[in-house]
Amino acid sequence: MNTVKMLGMSTTSILVPRKRPVSSRAPLLRSNPIPVRSRIPGRAKHLCTFSVLQRDPPSSVQELPPEEQRPGKIDSLNFQESAGTAYWRDAKSATLEDIFDLTTAVLEEARSNFNSPQDAQYWIYHLFVRTSFLSAQAAAGLSASELYEKAKQLRQGGLTALMNTEGQKAFGGITSDTGARLLFEAIKTYEQDFKNIQAGHYKYPYDMEFGHRQFDPLYVLDQSRRFISEAIGTFSRRNAQAPTTVWLEDSNMYPKYYQHTFHYQSDGWFSTESAKVYELSTETLFLGRQDAMQRHTLVPFARFMGGRDPAATRVVEIACGTGRFHTFLRDNYPSLHTTASDLSPYYLEEARSNLKYWESFRGKSVAGQGYTNFLQLNAEKMPFQDASQDAILCIYLFHELPMPARRNVFREVARVLKPGGMFVLTDSIQLGDQPMKDTVIGNFGNFAEPHYRGYISTDFGELGRAVGLKPDYKDVASASKTLSFIKPLEVIDIHGERRVTIDEDQAEG
Ligand SMILES: C[S@@+](CC[C@H](N)C(=O)[O-])C[C@H]1O[C@@H](n2cnc3c(N)ncnc32)[C@H](O)[C@@H]1O
Repeated sequence: MNTVKMLGMSTTSILVPRKRPVSSRAPLLRSNPIPVRSRIPGRAKHLCTFSVLQRDPPSSVQELPPEEQRPGKIDSLNFQESAGTAYWRDAKSATLEDIFDLTTAVLEEARSNFNSPQDAQYWIYHLFVRTSFLSAQAAAGLSASELYEKAKQLRQGGLTALMNTEGQKAFGGITSDTGARLLFEAIKTYEQDFKNIQAGHYKYPYDMEFGHRQFDPLYVLDQSRRFISEAIGTFSRRNAQAPTTVWLEDSNMYPKYYQHTFHYQSDGWFSTESAKVYELSTETLFLGRQDAMQRHTLVPFARFMGGRDPAATRVVEIACGTGRFHTFLRDNYPSLHTTASDLSPYYLEEARSNLKYWESFRGKSVAGQGYTNFLQLNAEKMPFQDASQDAILCIYLFHELPMPARRNVFREVARVLKPGGMFVLTDSIQLGDQPMKDTVIGNFGNFAEPHYRGYISTDFGELGRAVGLKPDYKDVASASKTLSFIKPLEVIDIHGERRVTIDEDQAEG
């Protein structure tokens, strides 16, 4: 996920709820309840399997499937849906004024729920530190890349070439409208995150505590320097539609699809510098809401952990990247035994360094209760024994995989999970999750994301069912969705029909 992703997905839609009058000041979103199965029949069937069977569409075009075949629609037959899912599905376009009113309403609602100084700290940190700083950073990145392009044109074609670019819009054509919408999406996402915290699904993020290195000006300056230089490179390669090969040529050690500079990121997944700039790039480009979107992974996971002993629970995160989410996971469950895994040794090294930082931040008495292993692996073929892991978590992987690899990862997850285990994936929203965006989200496929168009029409409920995983719970937050699955405790085949018995406690949350 990076600059291009955010711009590609967010420039044409504004998200406000359809029917709610602003003046009512009623809560805009209820806290995510732990799901009680009411609407989903035990073995919900749905009519359509098109997306699992289909091949990924060619990278430049995509015909939209009929509405009833879009994943966002099909999900409602398979998954217990959160209030957030309905909120974002009903969102429609709005004027700047609507957005202003809604923002005020969201903030007022949040303020009326303040119970502790930490509540205020949450909002101060997210609005005035994260989003303000990261918006300024985004503007700096865009300006720097525009200046760089202009200097290049001047050098190559002189003043005439430069004057021919006069019509180009500043800040990559991002208007105040778009800026306001992005800001609103960030605030709405924080509201969901805040309510999840208040509902006890997870803790306040540890990085909002003073003393965290992101309040150290020298650390921030160093990160910003990396980001600006990466932004210039990314935009320049995107403008030139540069080749997306990586420096590593035709390696047999990595799948073909992996040897690619996704979203024109320098070196793809193959350098330390790429790993060091990744977090700030993606957080900047989501204006600070990425962590909050990813933390929704912890909502179904918290239900799964209810009553379990973390010290006896084995959790694997696949495609952990630089491990930022993994630090939130461990901070919520310090005594867990986890494996942080990724295919990139460079990203894994950065994940190790991030976990080390978290350990030193929390101290031995907390961090020493559990431990994390680091493992380089391809999620399509994991080196774990059958039924050896209690839970598997995965964030922002599937949109970068071709269809056969998506299937392989599901098959591996189903093999490796213990019966009763949980799989949670968080990734980009898909077609039908926010119908307002259906005609534009596929455009992100143009930014060196060759599998994105296939991803947004993939029916994950069906993918799970095909390998024996039961669709469980769905949540949506701005640009991301979270889906959880349960591996049934017992599977009996009678006359070719699959019967599934799941743990009743788990089913009812
Ligand atoms: C978009 S990044 C997401 C990283 C991290 N989960 C996050 O959200 O910040 C995708 C990650 O998936 C990893 N990846 C891609 N294909 C993989 C595969 N087949 N097996 C394991 N990891 C893979 C990449 O190395 C990269 O770290």
